[in-house]
Amino acid sequence: MEICVIGAGYVGLTTSAVLADLGHRVRCIDSDPAKINDLNNGKIPIYEPGLSEVISNNKGRLTFGSDSGAAIEKSPILLIAVGTPSLPDGSTDLSSIYSVLETIADTILSYKTIITKSTVPPGTNQKIIDFLLAKGIDPNLFRVVSNPEFLREGTALYDMYNPNKTVVGVAEGDNVSPDILKELYKGIDAPLIITSLTGAEMIKYASNAFLAAKISYINEISRICDTYDVDVTEVAKGIGLDPRIGPLFLQSGLGYGGSCFPKDIKALMHSASIRNVETPLLSAVEKVNDSQVDIYITKLLKSLGNLSGKKVAVLGIAFKPETDDIRYSKAVTLIEKLLEKEAKVQVYDPKAMLPGHLQEIAVQHSQATEALAGADAAILATEWKEFLSLDWNKARNVMSGTVIMDARNCLDSRDVREAGLQYIGVGRP
Ligand code: UGA
Repeated sequence: MEICVIGAGYVGLTTSAVLADLGHRVRCIDSDPAKINDLNNGKIPIYEPGLSEVISNNKGRLTFGSDSGAAIEKSPILLIAVGTPSLPDGSTDLSSIYSVLETIADTILSYKTIITKSTVPPGTNQKIIDFLLAKGIDPNLFRVVSNPEFLREGTALYDMYNPNKTVVGVAEGDNVSPDILKELYKGIDAPLIITSLTGAEMIKYASNAFLAAKISYINEISRICDTYDVDVTEVAKGIGLDPRIGPLFLQSGLGYGGSCFPKDIKALMHSASIRNVETPLLSAVEKVNDSQVDIYITKLLKSLGNLSGKKVAVLGIAFKPETDDIRYSKAVTLIEKLLEKEAKVQVYDPKAMLPGHLQEIAVQHSQATEALAGADAAILATEWKEFLSLDWNKARNVMSGTVIMDARNCLDSRDVREAGLQYIGVGRP
């Protein structure tokens, strides 16, 4: 099949690579010429394990460009994967989507299946149809499909090849598009959920909101465990064995970050509020998450007295391991709060870089031991594999102080203590 993917971000690039790998001819378009230039020179603008190999293995079928008009004209299948960030009121900025639609409206001459992969609020795909019709486009020239993406950064390729479902939302009476989507994903084995356009949009939001709720739930439980000297990781294991609860997304720590959960919770609350629906549960999920970093700062203050002039090593900048993405990273929030309290922050991350506004005031090192050198305390903020196997005896030797704060509750506290260090978690006695 001939496909034009619009947007070369995490979702667009991964989708392009996998569709090309499945045998399709893919034109991946992005409005950022520098990004396209990099891609054409074999440089992948993001760190996503395995992605650069899949892209280079499929060079013949996968091309990158910035002329969206030409690529749209040539492709019967258009897959929109542009960013949909939050606006200050929690609503979603759909300007990139509408800019793509303008180009489609200007260039459409032959039949197109327009697939929305970007996360968009309930009702948006119907608005996309209305927009194109209002532009005078012949209704027989296109169909719109809502096909949300459920991949996680860091394991994006695995998730795309092994999805737990494929959700296809179609307009009433559209019995043509499901077969096109089946052909598109031929080779990927997953239950197919065919629903309405808005149903598919809701599945995406309800899914992310539920996962975020699990995280805030276990974080709130960890706060209670903390006061009763109970290990929250054992509680998570215990409750997770109940199949009605499940073991995943019960890792307590700094809270959820990234480009999806924080924005999607806000968007869902906004979508509810404009229909006069109250969302006390979603508000609580957000409230727990927003106060989680402070819980760790308070614990650190209790241990060190004050932070002014203290050297604090922060291990991890990315919002989660196996990515260089720092959008809404809780590690970054933590660093900002430490700096506000006048700590001297020395940071290390295997892939991610400090954001520009912190580059002058925190010091980023290229190795964990360098960041730990002379530190009064060290905080594990992102659970990269290399931190899980850190040599704590070595850490003890290079550090000035002895405090190790496990802000992802992922270390074996015995290893840390056996090295003569103090172990601090939340809900980890
Ligand atoms: C999330 C969803 O998991 C994907 O299914 C979805 O496709 C994606 O959003 C999206 O909407 O595009 P992602 O943001 O890549 O994926 O990362 P997650 O693995 O979900 O982690 C999100 C945040 O929650 C991270 O900050 C992570 O550290 C945190 N987290 C996750 C926890 O604090 N505890 C957990 O148990 C799991």
